[in-house]
Amino acid sequence: MNQENLQLSPVDTYEENLQTIWDTTSRPYKLNDNSYLQKQKNYESNARSYPRKFPIAIQKAKGYFIMDTEGQVFMDCLGGAGSLALGHNHPVIKKAIQKSIANDSALLTLDITSPIKDEFVKTLFGVLPQELRENAKIQFCSPCGTDAVEAAIKLVKIATGRSTIFSFSGSYHGMTNGALAITGNKSIKTQIPNLMSDVVFLPFPYHYRCPFGVGGLEAEKLSLHYIENILKDSHSGVGLPAAFILEAVQGEGGVIPASPFWLKGIREITKKYDIPLIVDEVQAGMGRTGHMFAFEESGIIPDVCVLSKAVGGSLPLSVIVYQKYLDKWQPGSHAGTFRGNQLAMATGTAVIKYITENSLVDNSRQKGNYLRNELLKLQQKYPFIGEIRGRGLMIGVEIVDTNESPNALGSYPPNTKLAAQIQRSCLHNGLIIESGGRENSVLRLLTPLNISEKNADDILYAFENALISIN
Ligand SMILES: Cc1ncc(COP(=O)(O)O)c(C=O)c1O
Repeated sequence: MNQENLQLSPVDTYEENLQTIWDTTSRPYKLNDNSYLQKQKNYESNARSYPRKFPIAIQKAKGYFIMDTEGQVFMDCLGGAGSLALGHNHPVIKKAIQKSIANDSALLTLDITSPIKDEFVKTLFGVLPQELRENAKIQFCSPCGTDAVEAAIKLVKIATGRSTIFSFSGSYHGMTNGALAITGNKSIKTQIPNLMSDVVFLPFPYHYRCPFGVGGLEAEKLSLHYIENILKDSHSGVGLPAAFILEAVQGEGGVIPASPFWLKGIREITKKYDIPLIVDEVQAGMGRTGHMFAFEESGIIPDVCVLSKAVGGSLPLSVIVYQKYLDKWQPGSHAGTFRGNQLAMATGTAVIKYITENSLVDNSRQKGNYLRNELLKLQQKYPFIGEIRGRGLMIGVEIVDTNESPNALGSYPPNTKLAAQIQRSCLHNGLIIESGGRENSVLRLLTPLNISEKNADDILYAFENALISIN
């Protein structure tokens, strides 16, 4: 194949065709229990999750569209749980894969280097804040976020000689033993005995359901005061931890952004007590929040940054980038066969370059603001929308039960059932959206970063239709 002849148009004709199908097909869609779904139920584990919310079989996908095996076209605002920064099968991603294969580049190199890896590291380091870049080391991990979290835990434990990890309520860090131990969601932990011990959970400032019952700046000050007190009180019962780990914008916990004030406060406390700060950017990183990294809104620099999802440009890849002073582990301390996934490094490089060259971080901020403002208008019409939150194109809509009494801050209890109904109604209206948060009551939009205003309007149109149909 002649590499130079590959077309590089951000929207190709097939994507336009899917848009036309979406524009012209009447809804609600029928969701038939077709043979693929029946076979899946028979052979696939009871632990499967998304197929229960989205009973479709995917035939093709392009940009932010998915076509199912029945020929129905959906807008994909799940985006591989936030991994698909440019949507499905973007031309630059296809080109990177085709080029690697046409050149017979190695597919897997363990952690032996290659021109593809070298280019990836150069490109990734090029978008790090300067203070981190100048001091950075990188470790490639087995290609999923949870393994990178495990690596970060090991790194800080070895470097500090301490064992406790401070994590936060509402956090999500993955499904392996250590990552699950530092995850807040109790329902996925309770059946598993002997998760990693030595984890202390601290209150994350979640204003709609304030752990201190006061909300606003007052809650953030209380949180910081409480946390510092644990460290300085000789009778707090808790020793110095190996690290703090947090998400600057919590994703699975319900799209809860930490304010710059609070993040700066945490950074000051961790510096004062000589404690490494791990920021988990697995979901929020690579432009999703309207910053290349979510922590950049506050200007803080973490000691360890955990990356996966979008960093691999749609293919499996995960890394930790950390400050050199922590690089005390021994050769082989964090091995893993598939940490040398060259195709993912090639697509990761292509996506990072495309994001920067096409100002997609700005687009994420602008389109995110646009979507949130329009959703706020819907909130006026539909009181069961308790709160609209987020940063950039990481957006959460909390669905609440207004038949119950509000708390002292005026917040209503989560409405799991209604959120599930809306999510299903969105599917019937050609819109795939994620859910999460407390009691699974937060509907979440994770669109590609390159969406247009027309795409945003279509999402809003489908979402409102979904609300109308359940009302
Ligand atoms: C913040 C965060 N950390 C870690 C993970 C785990 O990543 P993975 O599912 O690739 O293991 C996720 C996944 O959603 C995440 O959102």
